[in-house]
Amino acid sequence: MLALSDKLNTVPFVSVDHMMKIVLTVGIERFLCELAEVIEEDFRRWKEFDKTPRVASHSRDGVIELMPTSDGRDYSFKYVNGHPKNTRSGRQTVTAFGVLSDVDTGYPVLISEMTILTALRTASTSAMAAKYLASRETAAMAIIGNGAQSEFQALAFHALLGIDKVRLYDVDPSATSRCARNLNERGIHTTLCRSAEEAVEGALIVTTATADKQCATILTDNMVGAGVHVNAVGGDCPGKTELQKDVLYRSDIFVEFTPQSRIEGEIQNLPEDHPVTELWEVVTGQKTGRKNNRQITVFDSVGFAIEDFSALRYLREVAERTGLSVDLDLLADPDDPRDLYGMIQRCAAQKDSKSLA
Ligand SMILES: NC(=O)c1ccc[n+]([C@@H]2O[C@H](COP(=O)([O-])OP(=O)(O)OC[C@H]3O[C@@H](n4cnc5c(N)ncnc54)[C@H](O)[C@@H]3O)[C@@H](O)[C@H]2O)c1
Repeated sequence: MLALSDKLNTVPFVSVDHMMKIVLTVGIERFLCELAEVIEEDFRRWKEFDKTPRVASHSRDGVIELMPTSDGRDYSFKYVNGHPKNTRSGRQTVTAFGVLSDVDTGYPVLISEMTILTALRTASTSAMAAKYLASRETAAMAIIGNGAQSEFQALAFHALLGIDKVRLYDVDPSATSRCARNLNERGIHTTLCRSAEEAVEGALIVTTATADKQCATILTDNMVGAGVHVNAVGGDCPGKTELQKDVLYRSDIFVEFTPQSRIEGEIQNLPEDHPVTELWEVVTGQKTGRKNNRQITVFDSVGFAIEDFSALRYLREVAERTGLSVDLDLLADPDDPRDLYGMIQRCAAQKDSKSLA
């Protein structure tokens, strides 16, 4: 793997400012498509990766999680939080940053903001899954929950599946108006709905991306008709789900990594042995995704470490190509690797000679 910097003390860092410029330079829909390809590539070699449910620290209003994985060559982890109340104080519900490292030396090779990158990778994963799980007759999708993730979701489905009609609903109408305005600017036709029931009318893909720290019922059984694909994004924590159980019982359920999804996904509300299919099995052709036009499919998305690994792997290549990163002085690099203490002494001596001068 090429290094962005030859210096041993520095690690390339992609700031929020750089990330926005990278997305604008590449073009957001191209970024979403290329990222989906990288995620799909990594799902195809699923068995090469270390896999563990993420390490979660729950508190009254939210959760902080660490998401590690490795393919034996590279290692990555993401720090991410989920605090639905945050938007009331002007903060994001979800923020994140992450690290990609070289397994041979253990040295980090990239540090990046991942708040924007998480929205991009979540949307790319959703649309990639829908390629296998949604009906090809789909012209319109519904998005319930029009917060930070929503435009990314719509743009990924537009870029990967050609969906150009989106029906929007949020309990906060100002969120729906903002989302519609942003999507209209990109040529996506939007319908602003007054209820979730109205939003799902005629939509064969339904994305739920609400944020509430409870077992909510965003979709009831009567709202999900034959042939619908549900992309359930917002239920991603113990005690935080979006679908009525009956919807799950009528559906074929697809997950990322079963042990994590049993803890965090919609399927936490089902018995431990309820059958599910992991998405990588569909991507590799070992299992079938959509079988017919009447089947109801649910992608019970919680977000898995391999998607972040793919995102960092892709970002590293794009940051290198565009030159949009800075070198962080992060790793101590003494002349003699064992003389770490001496490095501090030499720094003190340099400081003293400067103050005498
Ligand atoms: N699966 C994943 O990989 C993944 C990745 C990122 C975020 N998420 C989850 O997706 C959800 C959305 O994230 P976000 O960053 O957009 O959050 P956000 O707070 O920016 O937006 C959530 C929106 O949902 C709306 N909402 C809440 N309850 C609702 C209801 N009952 N009906 C309709 N709308 C409702 C809110 O008004 C808000 O506009 C969160 O729960 C987050 O944890 C999942």
